[in-house]
Amino acid sequence: MVASEATPFAKTGGLADVVGSLPAALQHFGHDVAVVIPRYPSIDWGKTRSAFDNMTVWLGRRPFTVSIRTLVENGVPFYFVEHNELFDRDGLYAQNGRDFGDNHIRFAVLPLAALGVHQTLFPAEILHIHDWQAAMTPVYLHEQQHSNPAFYGVKTVLTIHNLGYQGRFGKNVLPDIGLNWGWFKPDRLEYYDDVNFLKGGIMMSDAITTVSPTYAHEIQTPEGGFGLDGVLRSRSRDVSGILNGVDYNEWSPEKDRYTAAKFSVDDLDGKRECKRDLLAEFGLPQDDLDRPLVGIVSRFADQKGFDLVSAMAHEFFQRDVQLVVLGSGEWRYEKLFNDWHAWLPHKVGVYIGYNNRLAHKIEAGADIFLMPSRYEPCGLNQMYSLRYGTVPIVRATGGLNDTIDEETGFKFGWYSAAALIDVFEQALEAYKDREGWLKRMRAGMQRDFSWDASAREYSHLYQRLGG
Ligand code: ADP
Ligand code: GLC
Repeated sequence: MVASEATPFAKTGGLADVVGSLPAALQHFGHDVAVVIPRYPSIDWGKTRSAFDNMTVWLGRRPFTVSIRTLVENGVPFYFVEHNELFDRDGLYAQNGRDFGDNHIRFAVLPLAALGVHQTLFPAEILHIHDWQAAMTPVYLHEQQHSNPAFYGVKTVLTIHNLGYQGRFGKNVLPDIGLNWGWFKPDRLEYYDDVNFLKGGIMMSDAITTVSPTYAHEIQTPEGGFGLDGVLRSRSRDVSGILNGVDYNEWSPEKDRYTAAKFSVDDLDGKRECKRDLLAEFGLPQDDLDRPLVGIVSRFADQKGFDLVSAMAHEFFQRDVQLVVLGSGEWRYEKLFNDWHAWLPHKVGVYIGYNNRLAHKIEAGADIFLMPSRYEPCGLNQMYSLRYGTVPIVRATGGLNDTIDEETGFKFGWYSAAALIDVFEQALEAYKDREGWLKRMRAGMQRDFSWDASAREYSHLYQRLGG
């Protein structure tokens, strides 16, 4: 697998959870899997050892010398591509909200180094690549290795975790990334007179998957296709949707190492203590533990539906509810929640930033989890919520549509504040019926989204491609 992030080494979102846990699940099906990611400063150099020193990859005539460090995590070998000038930076893709100016170089070197790992350290039958940062792997495979026997029969699978991020650059980068103008064609990398890395991956991979069945359909429509729907339709026969799984070793109320108390579907007592602890953590009054507590954990991006949440202000302020929010990203949403907190400090608790421990505490301690995404390829937090008996309110899109139903949560379809407010009121009404609510919590806790089923589907896909 080739990707730009993986837990526990580097994470900005769900991609990392998937790349961190899918490989081990695949090994249960007898596959030998290794992962290639960049060596960011968050990865403790001392814990790794050298696997290959001074490997030179070529972007055209420009050499880049990388070293490959390695360690085994959870039975899976990780290969870290070390190039300090490119990857030893704060931030994975950006700093202070601005993308690095050389991301086209960084995420050309990563796929090239991955091909080097294949050739020197870990010969693979399948190169499974994730998102635009790894999407150029099959492009360079064709460009540089087409007559190299080490690569005969190697198949590529591209998994799209989010079509909203494509790696689009001005066409003048083409010589810098070592490609000739023959690649600048509509059936290759060219996209509205720019270079589009994800498009290259879509055109050149043997199979394309995305992270839920509904999203696999949505990305082939103009509404969900981010301008690549036509390209994806042209490869429709090779596109499929495989739902992400959950790593229940990390996300289970029975053994969560971050929460104040443990609980399970048979013994929910501990959840109350988690709620009390969560309120305390956010400095909110703990006078009435029966009052509904709503939680949000999210990247603050348009994708996540915060314009709808902002339109709920009146509703929130009127009702006897409390809200805890954890997230960071776009400034206007940080401001929105900071304002809410300033106005109603006893009702709204806010933590701006990234904090895994708090994410666990919110999943465990809240009553309701709010995730009204505009679009959501899969979404993991709603599945985590289910496991912790925290009832999700979601919009019926992508993976949210595939994982939440009437028995376990609340869904609305039309992307509008009115529809969200409507379903929010339904949820608050339902919350008053304690027995009914417990039933809903238990139904969610018993849903099984472990990796097994998904890993089996990937396994079938690999076998089909391997012939
Ligand atoms: P996306 O990948 O689009 O951000 P997902 O729901 O697939 O959405 O995954 C988000 C992951 O990132 C989850 O594991 C979630 O707990 C985590 N996460 C998001 N924001 C934060 C934050 N501010 N602090 C801690 N964890 C976060
Ligand atoms: C992306 C998507 C999210 C998905 C995650 C992992 O970040 O936004 O919906 O769960 O990737 O596949």
